[in-house]
Amino acid sequence: MTDAAPTGTQFSPRVFSGIQPSGGLTLGNYLGAIRRFVDMQNANQDSGIETIYCMVDQHAITVWQNPADLTRNTRELAAGYIASGLDPAKSILFNQSQVAEHAQLGWLFNCVARMGWMQRMTQWKDKAGKNQQNASLGLFAYPALMAADILVYHATHVPVGEDQKQHVELTRDIAAKFNHDFGVDFFPMTEPVIEGAATRVMSLRDGSKKMSKSDPSDMSRINMTDDAEAIASKIRKARTDPDALPSEVDGLAERPEARNLVNIYAALSDQTVDQVLADVGGKQFSEFKPMLADLAVAKLSPISGEMARLMETPDEIDAILRKGADQAREIAAPVLKKAYDIVGMIR
Ligand code: TYM
Repeated sequence: MTDAAPTGTQFSPRVFSGIQPSGGLTLGNYLGAIRRFVDMQNANQDSGIETIYCMVDQHAITVWQNPADLTRNTRELAAGYIASGLDPAKSILFNQSQVAEHAQLGWLFNCVARMGWMQRMTQWKDKAGKNQQNASLGLFAYPALMAADILVYHATHVPVGEDQKQHVELTRDIAAKFNHDFGVDFFPMTEPVIEGAATRVMSLRDGSKKMSKSDPSDMSRINMTDDAEAIASKIRKARTDPDALPSEVDGLAERPEARNLVNIYAALSDQTVDQVLADVGGKQFSEFKPMLADLAVAKLSPISGEMARLMETPDEIDAILRKGADQAREIAAPVLKKAYDIVGMIR
């Protein structure tokens, strides 16, 4: 892992990321984020680098969440993390609201970040839509809380999908302005880690739209809780073009739906897109889709089975999260204390 961009001080590497428990997990979340979390956990096992993964429930409530659904979705997300290979003995797993330091540092950052910076955020524009006046203040301030999530651990590396790149860049802007305003070298310049064949998984119905849990059409996405039949049927009905698959990557230009399915295949089979095309080039979708469906079922079914098993004992999930929150607080509390000192707050 490379060092975070220098600010003068060398920060030791630490990994943080989070997912909103605002609905079921999608294949996009899995390939773009969770699989990368697991890789980073396993790659850094022996080096003593902490990997910290959060369920960002305070971000989820920036839009309405039914309370019972929020509780269930938070547990299901934790189950998804664990079933995918995150190990509470190796990574710190917890939900955001249990560690008050996130919101506390988030307030300081609300006072550092500028309105104009927030207004430029693509996710804000997409989620608030035409009715910005009616959006919650929390939705507008969302990226400042995200910066606090990351910086309260002095995290240097943040594995995310492509759509979160802008927010991680804003995190750097907030860190830089804080450091500059107070004449310190306190927060690191965090690097987004956006890697793999599926950093932007697209809708199965429209290759120009991101696969998303909030898309009204369930056919547009694969949910981590879908059974084998649902997965196969969604892939069979996925939108494609009439041509055969190309043998080289260049042949996927202007073919967003074909590219998406090949990217998914590559990510699920741990191959590069070139390797996949060397194998499947020339095949029709009628042949490729069943291959992809079989692969997706083989990879995802064990995870959804394990998620269902873990969900039978919610107390055990809650205990894991409480323990993770205690560990997280131990790292976050001294960072927040120092930030308060820098700002001049009496404690
Ligand atoms: P969220 O909850 O929308 O998504 C969680 C993660 O999944 C990735 N992702 C995708 N990757 C590839 N293709 C897709 N179709 C796809 N859909 C989602 C996202 O890029 C993300 O990595 N703001 C964040 C949550 C957050 C956070 C943080 C992340 C809050 N604080 C601190 C990192 C660090 C979000 O809304 O992600």
